[in-house]
Amino acid sequence: MPEAMTAPVGDGFDQVARDAVYRAMFTRRDVRSHFTSEAIDDDVLARLLLAAHHAPSVGFMQPWNFIIIRNAARRAEVRDLFLAAREQELPEIEAERQALYRKLKLEGICESALNICITCDRERSKGSPLGRWHNPEMDLYSTVCAVQNFWLAARAEGVGVGWVSIIEAQALKRLLAVPDHVTPIAYLCVGRVSQFAPKPDLETHGWGRRLPLSDLIMSETFCGQGEAPLKSTVARLNSVAAPAVPVDQRVAPAVPQREPSKVESALSLSSRNFDEASASLASQAGSGTWPSMVLK
Ligand SMILES: Cc1cc2nc3c(=O)[nH]c(=O)nc-3n(C[C@H](O)[C@H](O)[C@H](O)COP(=O)(O)O)c2cc1C
Repeated sequence: MPEAMTAPVGDGFDQVARDAVYRAMFTRRDVRSHFTSEAIDDDVLARLLLAAHHAPSVGFMQPWNFIIIRNAARRAEVRDLFLAAREQELPEIEAERQALYRKLKLEGICESALNICITCDRERSKGSPLGRWHNPEMDLYSTVCAVQNFWLAARAEGVGVGWVSIIEAQALKRLLAVPDHVTPIAYLCVGRVSQFAPKPDLETHGWGRRLPLSDLIMSETFCGQGEAPLKSTVARLNSVAAPAVPVDQRVAPAVPQREPSKVESALSLSSRNFDEASASLASQAGSGTWPSMVLK
């Protein structure tokens, strides 16, 4: 494990590290449109895979594998699977949204530097189903945790990731020679990007909006009312603004430390002074350098 990837011992990270973790989460994007042709170093890819491999897993099963797909012809075949699946999905979409659905860019299979299929080997700990006797699907969820670790680490490295799920699973398994007992969980387009968009593409194109978090919090039982103080705190933090971070200011391990920009200082989540942060960022939004984004 590279030294730069280890956390200090103690109750929590220091402020800079903590802010970096939140920044990765809040500025992570599903990338489809902004891939460049730049290659990804194996050093970087190895760090991302290590991050994925340190995900939690039921019974410490580690059910994942990572199929790295670089071959252009194979990727073109995967893209054909996507195009076919999209045509099959289209009639299921509400009639008034079909035209918009057609316009959406929903993959970057051929434009990205490489693709990765993350799979779940459902028989990896056959005979020792710790945590899976009653809930056999926990191995699938564990693999999703690995996907998320990969995605967040990629954001910190300035690498874009786009998840393509509009693919018929059996056809993908045949194409990648995936055995019966192994389930493809995520087909990812991975590459350097020209930008990380400030909002989800589907929000930008009017497909959906982030739901208000306070509407999703329940108390004690499903639909249980309560937790008013927590909900109002959530609503207050909701208004924090964050910048779109230029690609040349990627946060990556082993890069020389620099002074935080005004925006990063304003974003400092540990300060808990979110109103001030919002105001500071709003005052810079007009400059055009830091388009502001509302974290919802
Ligand atoms: C399980 C899963 C499957 C997804 N499948 C696709 C997909 O097939 N095509 C696509 O463009 N985006 C896909 N996405 C990305 C979502 O559209 C995206 O996460 C969401 O719109 C929010 O945007 P953000 O990730 O940029 O915050 C998928 C995301 C997840 C978690």
